[in-house]
This record gives sequence, structure tokens and C-alpha cells, in this order.
Amino acid sequence: MRNIAVLGFGVVGGGIYEALKPCINPPLSEVNIKYILDLRSFPGHPLADRVTSDYDRILADGSVEAVVETMGGVDPAYGFCLAALKAGKHVITSNKAVVDAHGEELERVAMENGVCYLYEASVGGGIPVVEPMRSCFYADTVTRVAGILNGTTNYILTHMRSEGITLAEALDVARRLGYAERDPKADLAGLDTARKLAILAGIAFGRYISYTDIPVIEGIEDVTLEDIQLAEQAGCLIKLFAVAERSGPDHAHMTVAPFLVGWHSLFHAVHDAQNAVCVTGSIVGDTVFYGSGAGRMPTAAAVCGDVARALNGDYKYHIRKKCEPGFILPEDESRFRKAVLPNGKTYRVYEK
Ligand code: HSE
Repeated sequence: MRNIAVLGFGVVGGGIYEALKPCINPPLSEVNIKYILDLRSFPGHPLADRVTSDYDRILADGSVEAVVETMGGVDPAYGFCLAALKAGKHVITSNKAVVDAHGEELERVAMENGVCYLYEASVGGGIPVVEPMRSCFYADTVTRVAGILNGTTNYILTHMRSEGITLAEALDVARRLGYAERDPKADLAGLDTARKLAILAGIAFGRYISYTDIPVIEGIEDVTLEDIQLAEQAGCLIKLFAVAERSGPDHAHMTVAPFLVGWHSLFHAVHDAQNAVCVTGSIVGDTVFYGSGAGRMPTAAAVCGDVARALNGDYKYHIRKKCEPGFILPEDESRFRKAVLPNGKTYRVYEK
């Protein structure tokens, strides 16, 4: 029996139980969710008797090897993760806000305590991208990370176009499907995308980068049905894009914004809550990671993959340096070609 605790039994936390139940692969087949930390109760749920609001009890229980944090938001999740690492427990999370704000400290504390802090599910939902970037590109220099990193906005843009519905109507469905953040402003304003870009760019460029370092973060709030229809008449889709690009050894550009994407781009085919990330290595060239970017079970499965790695001791420490001031350059207006729609609105154009 390998005991774990799940902090937050919401969309993803509840999915972890469902993902583990049929799993026959050790060590996941031996995992026991001994505690669920949540302020709510779940009458009738098979694990109802495991629910507690007493985190100290979990910390004090030496049989708990790993804590899975799926609460969302920085506080109190950050403090819980830090305390678990200091207590010698692995921490696995899907919480990009905490990884973005405190990943540097949490990775260092994990190393000092001989445990791991893993966050595959924080970017791209069920798509394996964090760990491949950390390990498989080791011999290469990543020059560029670009893609669609938010399932909610991609779902909204897809369905505004295909059904002619408004942003608010499409958001309503995305929320019901479990794609959106508790406060969906984080999706709509591009902040969720920016956090994920900061995590991936940090790995790519060997630095800890925060989304607050990104000079341009625009969301989709101002994208109208008319814009989408006019873009389509020009053979383009509108997609919320994240782009991080090296500019020599000591600089990078980073942008999050809605872009026009032409039919020749592979991103033109990324619909609904799917995400796709193109990681370019100076040796390997373009590689693409594609799949379910949001949702209960894909995200829960990614979390469980990290749980297995933690319990197997199958992880390495990848401590990076701080992002030095000036590393991320201000937006260069000529970096992306721009196009003006017939209604006068201007969009950046994604060329690849
Ligand atoms: N709200 C996020 C999204 C959830 O839509 O991508 C997955 O990180």
C-alpha cells in the first residue's frame, strides 16, 4: 500500500480517484488515497470517510508518501505544498499559479529534502510536455516554444465560429465541461496561458520566469463573432497564442495574444479544448505536442503519471537560475506581421 493525500476534491482531485481505480500498473495499482483535504463533505462517495479539514494530521502521518495538490490558486495551496516538502513528502500538482509564483523555492526545498515537486499537469492538461522538455531536449538548445495553451479559450473560439454563439454562451458550456478556471477571467484575459508559457519557457531557457515578466499578455475578451467571421472569410481562424523565442544567448521575446492563423498552419486544426505546443530545438527542429489541454480525466491522468514517477523515485532535479533583468526584451512591434480586418481591427498573424 502506498499512501497519498489529495488536497482539493474538485474537478481534477475527484478525477484522480477515478483514474486510479481501474489502474493495474504498479505503483499506481497499490496507491491508497488515505486523506482528502477539503472543507466540503462528499456524502455517498466511496472515499467520504477519508475527507478531513485538518492538514496537520496529514503532515504528521509518516505513512503518507506524496501529497497531490489540485486546489488551484496560490493561497493556501503554496503553504500546503511547502509544508509537505519540508515534511519529506513528494508534492505533485496541477496548479500552474503556484508553479509560476513559487516553483523556484518549491523545487529547491524538494531537493533539500530528498523528495520531488512535479507539475506535468500544470501545462497542457493531459499532454506530456513538461517532462519531455526537461529530459528529452537535454542535448539540444530550445530556441522557441509556441502554441495554444488554454483549452477554455480555444473551446470558446471554436464554438463561436462553428455555432455562431457569443463568447458568454460558449464560456458557459466550457465551464460546465470543467475546462474553465474557477475565475474564468484567468482564461479569458490570457493569464492562464501566460503562466503556462512562463513555465515552459523557464524550462526551455534554463531560468525561472514568471508570467509577470511577459511584456504582452492579451486575452480574447475583445474578440467578437464579427472578427471571427471576417477572419474566416480571409481563410484564417483566430487563436489565443503563446510564443517564447530566444534572441541570442541572453535574451528572449515572449508574447500572449490572439493571432490570425492561416489554413496552412498545423495550429489551424487544433479545435475545442485541444492544446498544441511546438517546441523547436536548434538540432531537432520543430517537434509538436498535441492533445487534450483541459478537463477532468486527462488532467487527472497526467497527475497520476507524476505520482508514479515520484513513488518510483524516477525523477531528476533541474534547478535553474533566476531570470536576470533584461533577459526578456520589450515587445518589438515589427516582430509579427499584422493584418487589418475589414472592420478595422488589427491582429498579429501566426506564420508557421
Ligand atoms: N482553465 C484551463 C484551460 C484548465 O482551459 O486550459 C487547464 O489548465
